[in-house]
Amino acid sequence: MRIFSGIQPTGRKHLGNHIGAVRGYLEGQDRGDPAILCVVDLHAITVPYEPARLRSLVYDTLAMLIASGLDPDRSILFRQSDVHEHTELSWLLSSVTAHGDLNRMTQFKEKSAAQRELVSAGLFLYPVLQAADVLAYRAHEVPVGDDQRQHVELMRDIAERFNTAYGEVLVVPEHRIPSVGARIMDLQQPGRKMSTTGSEERGLIFVDDEEKAIVKKVKSAITDSGGEVRRGPDKPGITNLIDILAVIRGVSPEAVEREFEGQGYGSFKEAVAEAVVDVLRPVRERYLELRPDEGALEAVLGEGADRARSLAAETLADVRRAMGVGPPA
Ligand code: TYM
Repeated sequence: MRIFSGIQPTGRKHLGNHIGAVRGYLEGQDRGDPAILCVVDLHAITVPYEPARLRSLVYDTLAMLIASGLDPDRSILFRQSDVHEHTELSWLLSSVTAHGDLNRMTQFKEKSAAQRELVSAGLFLYPVLQAADVLAYRAHEVPVGDDQRQHVELMRDIAERFNTAYGEVLVVPEHRIPSVGARIMDLQQPGRKMSTTGSEERGLIFVDDEEKAIVKKVKSAITDSGGEVRRGPDKPGITNLIDILAVIRGVSPEAVEREFEGQGYGSFKEAVAEAVVDVLRPVRERYLELRPDEGALEAVLGEGADRARSLAAETLADVRRAMGVGPPA
């Protein structure tokens, strides 16, 4: 079973990434043969960014992944731009991608609406590159949070259209989205997902936040005026905190509701804050140890890219052959 996922090197990683996705990567590391995880710097350039910071953001992201438990000896960890097969496959796949489908992508609509100067063609083609990321490895499974559901559905359509047109070359992948915690919400605006670009600092818990900051953010999370610790559409703030605690403890949300029945929000929030602090503490400590050694991080990326390239090159050779591109075999 090949498992592939990608993560953008945009800013600090937050609890949503950690709970919605990184846990899925770790689980994938145990089942994957191999598990492949890519820091997608070429996706990050589709919106305005600072070239001088991009490399450093890739190191931040890689160090965070390793600190979370991803092991470069067991999983393939690499930087997208190091493996040119992704961009080549992206172009080849664009010929079996419907323009109308790209126009319907919610993330494109949201991100393009947020641009002040330029809506780049790269932003429009973003999901095709994402499809190439996965299809280049013939991956079977893609662990992601809920916001990537539509992108995974699109890559399935692209793979199917390719196979119909050119023969069975590509594997149609499946998403793996957790049943709880796939959409962690902003602590201050529980109607929207926690995100580095859309949330204020107070609404976000960063993986490397100081303990005091985490406690403060959880305690000041917006809740409703009722006092019951239970989930419901009328209680998005409490629902979010229940989900967070359930995932961290590895129990069901119902078990959390039962445990806090009859107790107020105060003691519940204290338990959530403590659980988040405990789960992130070792990650932050390890991150601070790993992050300064950029030489070591670069070595991990280089070795990962070599392993990734040899897998992707096989697929590309088959794709080119099937499409009649390049010299005869
Ligand atoms: P990115 O970098 O925005 O997010 C990385 C992962 O974190 C998940 N996530 C969340 N999960 C729960 N709650 C949240 N609030 C939350 N915010 C983010 C995302 O779903 C994602 O799994 N397009 C992708 C990167 C990508 C990719 C790929 C993913 C590029 N190529 C190939 C899978 C396969 C993205 O922007 O993720």
